[in-house]
Amino acid sequence: MAATFRYLLLILTATLLASHVSSTQQQEVQEPEPITRYKQYLRFKTAHPNPNYTAPVSFLLTQAQSIGIQSKILEFVPNKLLLLLTWPGSNPSLPSILFNSHLDSVPAEPDKWAHPPFSAFHSPETGQIFARGAQDDKCISMQYLEAIRNLKLTKKFQPIRTIHVSYVPDEEIGAADGMAKFVESEEFRELNVGFVMDEGQASTNDDFRVFYADRAPWNLKIKAVGVPGHGSRMFDNSAMENLMKSVEMITRFRDTQFDLVKAGKAANSEVISVNPVYLKAGTPSPTGFVMNMQPSEAEAGFNIRLPPTADPDLLRKRIAEEWAPSMRNMTYEIIQLGPLRDYKGRPLMTLTNDSNPWWSVFKQAITAAGGKLAKPEILASTTDARFMRELGIPTLGFSPMSNTPILLHDHNEHLKDTVYLRGIEIYESVVSSLSSFVEASQ
Ligand SMILES: *[C@@H]1O[C@H](CO)[C@@H](O)[C@H](O)[C@H]1NC(C)=O
Ligand SMILES: *[C@@H]1O[C@H](CO)[C@@H](O)[C@H](O)[C@H]1NC(C)=O
Ligand SMILES: *[C@@H]1O[C@H](CO)[C@@H](O)[C@H](O)[C@H]1NC(C)=O
Ligand SMILES: [Zn+2]
Repeated sequence: MAATFRYLLLILTATLLASHVSSTQQQEVQEPEPITRYKQYLRFKTAHPNPNYTAPVSFLLTQAQSIGIQSKILEFVPNKLLLLLTWPGSNPSLPSILFNSHLDSVPAEPDKWAHPPFSAFHSPETGQIFARGAQDDKCISMQYLEAIRNLKLTKKFQPIRTIHVSYVPDEEIGAADGMAKFVESEEFRELNVGFVMDEGQASTNDDFRVFYADRAPWNLKIKAVGVPGHGSRMFDNSAMENLMKSVEMITRFRDTQFDLVKAGKAANSEVISVNPVYLKAGTPSPTGFVMNMQPSEAEAGFNIRLPPTADPDLLRKRIAEEWAPSMRNMTYEIIQLGPLRDYKGRPLMTLTNDSNPWWSVFKQAITAAGGKLAKPEILASTTDARFMRELGIPTLGFSPMSNTPILLHDHNEHLKDTVYLRGIEIYESVVSSLSSFVEASQ
């Protein structure tokens, strides 16, 4: 290779390198600070079974300090940190607004992911940011703060009602050491909360989804006993026969509910779902089960979800009389996880019509920000919102993610940077509207 040619090549390479470096630098300069902070927050390892709450809480505390709002760390159970931030309103005697999210995440199986689940990989092509928690629910955790930052520092907004932001532990494992403890505390009572915003879910179209209730989970175990006998004999009332009769009835009930969904008459979350989760019967042998013997006991387990519109007493009656009748030598156990009614005995749901002034203000805030709400829904699963609804505090589930695949608890959970940034604008409108609303009598 001629010397001059090699020199030319070198210059060319250097130029290419230089232009590459400068475009990378440009990208770094151009990345909006909220995206940088969101990615930082996504990198904390908050997955069960060993979420580390110290690191994310200390990060959020630093954020709160840089914005200039008050903070308090509560620890109802050792190491289960709960962070409470407060932006005092000009009229602190009015009931306050609480924006809640949880610190913890469900586990992720790294080998099933395209990018390590706590790397916050940001695709330069699509703008997608990959992380466990990107949708559930570290997006809203940070969007609340970014909205408050913009309102307070840039727009010099002054709330009338006090605004609280809570970061609670253990939502994903039932909240016994998290929200359940918080709502029972003196600290919570002192907040005088009038309205709560909690997490929702992504929407695959232009609309934002909003949730006014959760379904209540029940675990049902039914057990049959019966006459044991030789595998060759046909006789009545074996444990298996008794159990199978119940399984048939439960299956028929499940069909009536599922048919409503299939016919488009109800949403998945509006019916009672009943799904078999285990069967336990048979006499074990070294190679499996004894095949020439009909067992004297048989058991099955079901996961049931009740919408707030369902009558729990009616279902209890059905279980006692049809699914596990003592006449058929059956017993049952219902393990009810969480409340079904509020302290006044009302179904656990927040009204989404004009009789609830908070609803009107919220809806107006979305419209004002150029957004559109889908028809309010019942959430198919369960969140911490149930604890506030139990206290009779109106609570909406909302995570502003439109045109986004629903990936909570899924592999490759991600959120697009533009969707995330749009969510901050939405919350600016929601925070300012709710905190300026003074007409409510309460
Ligand atoms: C949690 O994270 C902090 C900060 O990264 C670290 O110092 C601490 O040792 C961690 N705690 C546990 C229990 O792993
Ligand atoms: C209930 O169990 C008893 C005792 O094993 C048995 O005699 C009876 O036939 C069973 N009845 C039914 C309906 O299974
Ligand atoms: C709001 O909805 C509730 C429950 O469906 C209903 O009882 C009430 O009459 C409604 N109020 C208005 C003003 O529409
Ligand atoms: Zn969640």
